[in-house]
Amino acid sequence: MNEADFAGRVALVTGGADGMGWAAVQRFAARGAAVAICDTNVELAGQRIAALKAMGATAKYFETQVGDPQACEQAVRGVVAELGRLDFAFNNAGYPGELLPFAEQKPAIWDRVIAVTLSGVFHCMRAELTAMLATGGGAIVNNASISGLVGFATLAPYSAAKHGVLGLTKCAALEYARQGIRVNAICPGYMDTSMTQQSTTAAMREALAASAPIGRLGAPSEAADVATWLCSSAASYVNGACIPVDGGVTAA
Ligand SMILES: NC(=O)c1ccc[n+]([C@@H]2O[C@H](COP(=O)([O-])OP(=O)(O)OC[C@H]3O[C@@H](n4cnc5c(N)ncnc54)[C@H](O)[C@@H]3O)[C@@H](O)[C@H]2O)c1
Repeated sequence: MNEADFAGRVALVTGGADGMGWAAVQRFAARGAAVAICDTNVELAGQRIAALKAMGATAKYFETQVGDPQACEQAVRGVVAELGRLDFAFNNAGYPGELLPFAEQKPAIWDRVIAVTLSGVFHCMRAELTAMLATGGGAIVNNASISGLVGFATLAPYSAAKHGVLGLTKCAALEYARQGIRVNAICPGYMDTSMTQQSTTAAMREALAASAPIGRLGAPSEAADVATWLCSSAASYVNGACIPVDGGVTAA
């Protein structure tokens, strides 16, 4: 990897303050891109921006609730206004809802999961595609999940939303490839992030790790490496792909 191959480029990451988003932000910055963190967590994002600036990166925070269509548009407009252009977007923010049997899932949780996890990607993509068309191209990567490839018992709204994210990915990939924009998705498995820590017990995490063919949870960096690779010229013929990053879980 050429460490500065993203020099002069601008990367936007939703949910960029923690987990896989933060891991991707660090990789974009290490490869020379200016980075925009779009996240709801003002305090953590502030710390991340300070860390990025300390390592010499150009970095800006845009407070963004991806469940709000206007916030998504404002964030992308802000990135273009303040950083000059948009080359790469990692649409990563999502909300898992609650682990419940299907019949006990609540309409309010369904609405929230769909608003953040599915509609948030749609609204961000619309604005990102518009910005990328203005400069002649770019690359979008959506963070779906293995729950977008197969069902996950007790996570029906989330699984429906993530299947939808793959639909958005494939449609945009068909529509924009000839205009220089590639659109792909990653489908992480059981990752060791705050989201997993907050939604599972230690015993559940142990069981998830044991059930993965690779025998452990994934590190955020292992998803971020694939996401940033998809933005690079090394992936120049990869378009509309939905790549499992799951230690083999969906190979079964
Ligand atoms: N953790 C897993 O095992 C796993 C597996 C597959 C897919 N995913 C997906 O990967 C993505 C990232 O997950 P993670 O585990 O790295 O999460 P995380 O909890 O470690 O980090 C999520 C970040 O997103 C921000 N965020 C949350 N809601 C937001 C919103 N509505 N608008 C803007 N920012 C918001 C948070 O403040 C945080 O900085 C999510 O879409 C998740 O569904 C997670």
